Amino acid sequence: MNQDIATILVTTEQINDAVARLGQELTAEYRDKNPLVIGVLRGVAPFMIDLVRAMDCYLEIDFIDVSSYGDATESSGAVTVLKDIDSDVTGRHVLLVEDIVDTGRTLEKLLELFAGRGAASVKVCSLLDKPERRIVNVTADYIGLSVPNEFVVGYGLDFRQQYRNLPYIGVLKPEIYQN
Ligand code: IMP
Repeated sequence: MNQDIATILVTTEQINDAVARLGQELTAEYRDKNPLVIGVLRGVAPFMIDLVRAMDCYLEIDFIDVSSYGDATESSGAVTVLKDIDSDVTGRHVLLVEDIVDTGRTLEKLLELFAGRGAASVKVCSLLDKPERRIVNVTADYIGLSVPNEFVVGYGLDFRQQYRNLPYIGVLKPEIYQN
């Protein structure tokens, strides 16, 4: 699998540093709030697991699954909820955790959804931000790292469901997309 990567953009060490910093910031923010931490499947899985372990406070976790890309590298524009959370968010402090904010369409849809459910607060933590690609004017409250306008894989991020298990974030060789 490693031989398919052209460039490493974010090393494992840089990921670990970003997670530790975010964990400290979120611990300070949520110390007395017992937040409901909601991961957006599937790309968030490794980040979510590392992030909650870096937070030293009482919290609950849940997951939501949305589709936005299919198997292409471009957003389709339509965002559908495939699996909703099981928890009641009424009066809760919600922290949405994303792998990457790209066009912003997924985040916009999720913010609309949770705003209508009576949460006490809704904030967003994204491992990666790709600001050059933004179509919708939304931004995460907590961001691990910014990446340039390239399609990235690894640490949860996929191309055709592969490469999520890479321990770093990189760019694929062009021939991989062409196959
Ligand atoms: P958005 O709705 O365009 O902001 O995209 C959100 C989702 O698209 C993310 O949660 C990812 O699952 C996927 N995505 C966006 N950019 C990339 C990328 O560079 N690599 C892999 N997946 C991506």
